[in-house]
Amino acid sequence: MGNKGKTKKMVRFEVLENKDATKEKNVQEALNSKRAQKLKADLLEADNILRNEYAINLLLFKLKMINIELEKKYTRAVIRNIDSRIKSADSIIKKLQRKGYDISYAVAEEKLNDIAGIRAVCFFVDDVYEIAELLKRQKDIKLIKEKDYIKEPKKNGYQSLHLIMQVPFFAGETCIYQKIEVQLRTAIMDSWAELDNQLCYKKEFLNTENAEEELKAYSQLVVKMDKQMLQLRKQIKKL
Ligand code: GTP
Ligand code: MG
Repeated sequence: MGNKGKTKKMVRFEVLENKDATKEKNVQEALNSKRAQKLKADLLEADNILRNEYAINLLLFKLKMINIELEKKYTRAVIRNIDSRIKSADSIIKKLQRKGYDISYAVAEEKLNDIAGIRAVCFFVDDVYEIAELLKRQKDIKLIKEKDYIKEPKKNGYQSLHLIMQVPFFAGETCIYQKIEVQLRTAIMDSWAELDNQLCYKKEFLNTENAEEELKAYSQLVVKMDKQMLQLRKQIKKL
């Protein structure tokens, strides 16, 4: 009985390992393909870089303005730091492949929301929502999708508020809408996500099962800490 169980388990592990090996081979093939080379070249085209940088800079400017406004309103720090990036060609290719799309820059622009990305890390969770509201009210940019992983964290415990926004980019007679993913989260959520990035996130070819379970448990601590820090701030305000 015991042996039978063991054999079954071993067979299952072997099947999984073979599946992983095939997946990894497919990823490598996709990264080395001609279409991938073309996508890399297109991503580096001056106009594509410029439009992504424009969206990032516009959001950066808006977030800085909002920060100044809120710092004055509350006489305390609100945003701890802002980071931004243009997604690397390799991660665009991997994501397109994972989602079963054709590997081309045009498809990436159409299907992916986060070629341009910006992240603002705040001290308190109510600030996250206030900043989101202020961004949504801006007339020159449009919210196209909102994912509230704070109200409903991901299965692995990931928390953050994601806004997919559209920024108009006028070039001559034409106006192109450029998408950008805005991530808003607290400093505590950010630490968790950074550690998850190091240990588990997108490490599909490593055995991370135990670490995933622990990280999920720690995400409860994140929720608790953020709540308590907010309460603490409110108590101090009353004094
Ligand atoms: P990808 O996760 O990039 O494939 O994008 P998606 O279209 O599935 O959107 P989603 O909102 O799930 O994730 C967008 C971004 O949020 C990611 O690129 C990461 O920066 C971040 N993110 C999402 N889920 C996790 C997670 O479980 N852990 C960590 N550390 N970051 C995550
Ligand atoms: Mg995802």
